[in-house]
Parts: sequence; C-alpha cells; structure tokens
Amino acid sequence: MRVLITGITGFAGSHLADLCLTKKEVDLYGIIRWRSRTENIEHIWDKLKLLECDLRDASSIRDVIEEVKPDYIFHLAAQSFVPTSWKAPTESLTTNIIGQLNVFEAARKIGLACKIQIACSSEEYGMVNPDELPIKETNPLRPLSPYAVSKVGQDMLGYQYFMSYGMEIVRTRGFNHTGPRRGSVFVCSDFAKQIVDIEQGSKPPVISVGNLEAKRDFTDVRDIVKGYWLSLEKGRPGAVYNICSGKAHSIREILDILIELSGVEVEIKSDPARMRPSDVPILEGDNSAFMKDTGWKPEISLKDTLKDLLEFWRECPDRFYA
Ligand code: GDD
Repeated sequence: MRVLITGITGFAGSHLADLCLTKKEVDLYGIIRWRSRTENIEHIWDKLKLLECDLRDASSIRDVIEEVKPDYIFHLAAQSFVPTSWKAPTESLTTNIIGQLNVFEAARKIGLACKIQIACSSEEYGMVNPDELPIKETNPLRPLSPYAVSKVGQDMLGYQYFMSYGMEIVRTRGFNHTGPRRGSVFVCSDFAKQIVDIEQGSKPPVISVGNLEAKRDFTDVRDIVKGYWLSLEKGRPGAVYNICSGKAHSIREILDILIELSGVEVEIKSDPARMRPSDVPILEGDNSAFMKDTGWKPEISLKDTLKDLLEFWRECPDRFYA
C-alpha cells in the first residue's frame, strides 16, 4: 500500500512517518519543499521516498499524486502557529486552504480512488461556552484567529468534496499535542526549552510566559498519529472526529509540572509580546465518537510526555525547531 504524507518533515508528520514504517505493507512517500528543514526525518532517510513539491502550486502536487498514486493521503502540511496567522493572514489562509484544495483537485482530476485524512483543529471551536464542555463535533464553530478560520475552511472543503464527489475524506479535529520534536514556538516546547537552558546555565533563571490562564486538552503526538492512521483504517469517510484526551489543563499547570520535573528554581515573568489579540479560553474535547468508531484511546500520560519533551531538549539543546 502506498502512503503519502504532506508535512512529513514537521512535528506530527515525522511521528506519523515513524508509525507508518512499523507497518510491513507500507511504501512511504513524503513531499518536501526546496530548503525545508529535514532534522525530524533524518533517522529514517533511507526508508522513504521524498518528492519535491509546493502545495500552493497546483501542478506541483498534481505531478506528485500522479506519480505516487497513493492509497492513503495524510494531509498535515500547514502554517500551524496561531500567532503567525495574525502577522501573515494571507499566507496562512493560502497555504492552508488553497494548499488543501490543490490536493483534493489533484486526486479528483486524476480519478484516484484513495482515502484522505485532513488535519483540522480544535481551534475551529474557538469561543466555547462553559455549558458546551466537553466539546462535541456538533458544537458551533466560533474561530478566534485567522489560523482557526483557515482550519474551518479546510474542514468545510473536506465536507464539501465528500458530499459533491463522494471522495473518501476523513476530517480529524486534533486538539493540542506535544512531545519530542515539537517546534520551540509552541507552549510546552517553549517552556521545556527555557527550563533546559536554565538547567544548562545558558540562560538566567527567568521563564518568559504568555497567557497562563488558557486551558488546553493535550495528547502525546505519538497517540495522535495512531489516531490519524485509524481515522483512515476504521473511520467513516465524510465523518469529522475530535482526537483528544478529554481532559483540559491550564497552561499554568503545564508550567508547574515542567518545573517540578526539572527541579530548577525559576522566576516566572509575563511577556506582553506573548499575548494574543484574542486567545481561546478553554478547549476540552469529547473523544467518544472517535473511540467508538475506531477503538482509539490515548495511552501516554501527560507527565510522561512532558518528561520526554524535557529529555529531548536536553539531548539536542541547540537544535532549532520553528
Ligand atoms: N506559544 C506560546 N508561548 N503559547 C503560550 C505561551 C508562550 O509563551 N504562554 C501561554 N501560552 C498559551 C497560548 O496563549 C495558548 O492559549 C496556549 O498556551 C497554547 O499555545 P500554543 O502551544 O501556541 O498552541 P495553540 O493552542 O495556539 O495551537 C496549537 O494547537 C492547535 C490545536 O488546538 C497548534 O498546534 C495548532 O496548530 C493546533 O491546531
């Protein structure tokens, strides 16, 4: 079976690649942009085939899909950092929505019979009322950032292409995920890296933070990618699924766990530059539909994930991950 991952050099993409390579029947393909950073997949370099492609160029992805003729496509490539979407909204909307449109159009025009998973996001729910928790897939979408709007666009396109053309598309609304290789701009990785820099004496014992009151539902990336696989193996085409742990933690709790795991003495300093024009107050998901249809369940505890994240930064403190 041929599997194509867009975003294979990224955080979730590289973990999904690791998972695919444990399956004997899989020939793995990924797309890569000119000058993409490749640290995340260097350990599996010889086990997959990379094709140069830019998703914003329709002819580029069409050539790739024509050549690979994948049975499964995991579409993970995106501009994935919420704050960047305020600074570069056009780029975020174009990469995420038009990039995905180009994948769909390529598969449709070639007449390829394949299953496509699209990485949608809990950010789509945005402003959630207290009486709507835990969030079900049927909750209204009230996006609070250009990034979230781009994910609503991807999600709706997935629905529309399923309804209009019967394409076997499964939409996964991934809640927050973290673990080794997480980009250093995302909250758990940012704090873990600051703590490791303090441990190693390369930074004064002060941790800069943004909004610690927000609450997020974190899952280990290695559990999330198992969910992505199951979404195509067992999920219903046309369906939309939350993938999450079902339990939210405040960002302050995450910081406290990391500090406790390390044992460092630190001062916590609020940094206004880390505040967002609007921040989603709470995302806590209901994962029952996904568990029922696919048998998925999260297995790695938050504490173990954060331990592994600290260890990751201790092993490669100079590695840059955007
Ligand atoms: N990045 C960051 N840095 N976030 C901080 C900080 C900080 O110093 N301090 C507090 N936060 C808060 C943010 O305001 C937000 O409420 C929360 O921590 C999580 O921020 P991120 O880790 O940047 O993730 P996100 O929730 O905005 O988005 C992530 O999860 C989505 C799924 O819900 C990304 O992975 C998205 O791509 C994904 O769709």
